[in-house]
Parts: sequence; C-alpha cells; structure tokens
Amino acid sequence: DRPLKVALLGCGVVGSQVARLMTTHADDLAARIGAPVELAGVAVRRPAKARGGVAPHLVTSDAAGLVGRGDIDVVVELIGGIEPARGLINAAFDAGASVVTANKALLAQDGPALHAAAEEHGADLYFEAAVAGAIPLLRPLRESLAGDKVNRVLGIVNGTTNFILDRMESSGAGYGEALEEATALGYAEADPTADVEGFDAAAKAAILAGIAFHTRVRLDDVHREGITEVTAADIASARKMGCTVKLLAICERAEDGRSVTARVHPAMIPLGHPLASVREAYNAVFVEADAAGQLMFYGPGAGGAPTASAVLGDLVAACRNKLGGGRGPGESAYAALPVSPMGEV
Ligand code: NDP
Ligand code: HSE
Repeated sequence: DRPLKVALLGCGVVGSQVARLMTTHADDLAARIGAPVELAGVAVRRPAKARGGVAPHLVTSDAAGLVGRGDIDVVVELIGGIEPARGLINAAFDAGASVVTANKALLAQDGPALHAAAEEHGADLYFEAAVAGAIPLLRPLRESLAGDKVNRVLGIVNGTTNFILDRMESSGAGYGEALEEATALGYAEADPTADVEGFDAAAKAAILAGIAFHTRVRLDDVHREGITEVTAADIASARKMGCTVKLLAICERAEDGRSVTARVHPAMIPLGHPLASVREAYNAVFVEADAAGQLMFYGPGAGGAPTASAVLGDLVAACRNKLGGGRGPGESAYAALPVSPMGEV
C-alpha cells in the first residue's frame, strides 16, 4: 500500500509529541489505518533548532511550500493563532488534503468558513484536540448523542487556569508563580492572556455550544470573565464557606428551546461537588441530555502528550477516510438559534 503522507505544521509542545507518537506507534497506526503513515515534512518558525527524533531533512520554515507541494494527504496544523494557520488550512484544502487541528481560537472565529472550504474540496476537518485535551468529548457529543437532545454543557475546559487556582489554594503559590509553572509544563497558550482572561475557555465554549445545539456560536457571542481578578483572599473566603473557586464554561439551551447562551466565569463550587476535586490541569465537563441524563467527561485537559493523543485519533480517522472514501463530521449547524451571552436577565 502507498503510504499516506502527513505534513506537520508546528513542532512545539503538541507537535513534537505528535511527531514522536507517529514514530513510536507507526506499526499500530498502519494496522489501524490499513496503510503506513509517513511524516513528509515538519514546518516550524526556527528550522535550525533541534527537533528530537525528527530527521533534520524533514524540517522546513516554508510551511506554504510544504502544504502546496501536491502529494500531502493530511495536514496537521499545530501552529495556533489566526494567521498563518488559517491561510495554511485553506491552502491544504485547495491542495486536496484533509486537515487535523487543535486550534480552538481559529475555529471559534472562523469555523463555518473552514467547514465550508473543507466541504467544497471534499476534504475533512477534524478538531477533537481543540477542546479538553485528551478527553474524547466532541465526538461523543456529535456522534453518540446525535439521537438525543443536549440541554446543557458545563465544566472546566481550561487546564492552565485550573492549575493556577489549584496551586493558589493547595500550596499557597502566588498567581504569577503558578502561571510560570503552568507555562513551563506546556499547558498555557503562546500568549497566556488567552488562558487567564478566559478567551481560551470562551473559544471552547463556542465550539461546544455549536456542536451540542447544532447552531453557530462564535467567540464574540460568549460572555467572558477570566481569573485575573481572583485573589488569594477570594479563595480563602470561598474555603471558609466550604467552597472552591473554578473557572467554568456554561452552555445552555433556553427552556423554551428557542435560543442558547454561553458564558465563562469564575464560580464558587461546593467542596462536595465532583468539579471541586478536579486538580492541576485536568478538565471535567458535564453534558446533560433529555434521554441520557447527566454524563461526566474527565481527564487531562492540556499538555503535549495528552493533546497529541486526541490529534492522533483524528489523524487515524482522516487517513481512513482518504483510503476508504468516507467523510469527516462536517458542520451540523441547522438550528440557527440566536445566542445570547447570559440568557434572559
Ligand atoms: P507551541 O507554541 O509550543 O508550538 C507552536 C509551533 O508552531 C512551534 O513549533 C513553532 O515553531 C511553530 N510556528 C509558529 N509560527 C510558525 C510559522 N509562522 N510557520 C511555521 N511554524 C510556526 O504551541 P502548542 O504546541 O502548545 O499549541 C499548538 C496548538 O495546539 C495551538 O493551537 C494550541 O491552542 C493548541 N493546543 C495546545 C494545547 C497545549 O496543552 N499546549 C492543548 C490543546 C490545544 P518554533 O518551534 O520554531 O517556534
Ligand atoms: N491552554 C490550554 C489550556 C491548552 O490550558 O487548557 C489546552 O487547550
């Protein structure tokens, strides 16, 4: 069988783990896909930097050249941010490649246009890793619950802020010190303002609400408050009241079913509640649906290897479709429900 060729854009915290797993799991991946998978090139900003197990001749600073060379089956975008990621993803579709990305910022801003471009070219767009790291969440929400009616998605979807709040509470660390540690562990975004100001959680809330309620929700539709105003005194007061402070993302369908709301803000959580015991950079998300009742998804929400696990799952799906002619999930935004940040006042 001819090998499927994969272009990796970005070889940082997540990309380096994807490259590593593509090598160490090569035989298993080939067996699951039905053909070997070849890393055809790796685009980075600084090509002279050593990239662990990646052969130096594969590394380039010419991401556009790699994507456009004409023989790439799947592009894995792990650069992050809006540009050049958006242009490269569109170039991938133009070249007939499918795309796997973890870029929640881009999806929450331009998801519909990207889905339309994928559709136009008969390509797939997969992004399980964009929300909640290793936790399989988008696929169950989209596929396993496709016959149910989801009414609420609520939980902790940002590992960095959970890590900071946890450290501040459990070891008395200062905010700055805890943020530095989260960055060193690879949890924070390139600009950690996205984490601490709640933009990252709001982007994830937009993606979750879009899939859960089959409508289009953008970052700007989500009410957003981060954790920069949460002080050690706030955390101590919460503790005295038998609570802890967590940054929550809450997406809800209105009771009359005619609109949806999405918001991100710090909240007091009673210590007995399962969300109170979510430590470090773990995430936990409750999904409430008419027939299923309440489901809880829990696991590592950030970091190189956990996120790479979700990327590899999407890569297997995209490669199988390339071989078997199947299609990725596409967008199911048929409901056109109005979105308000906080619901009715
Ligand atoms: P990093 O900052 O660690 O890595 C970014 C990579 O992109 C680097 O290899 C960098 O090159 C490369 N890069 C930057 N600009 C360019 C460019 N113009 N052309 C080519 N390559 C470029 O980011 P992460 O790995 O942490 O995140 C990647 C994506 O995954 C983001 O969308 C992020 O939101 C998402 N994500 C991250 C998670 C995490 O826990 N870290 C979890 C879930 C999603 P160089 O190495 O030379 O600087
Ligand atoms: N910066 C993000 C977080 C990475 O801390 O949750 C995972 O999406």
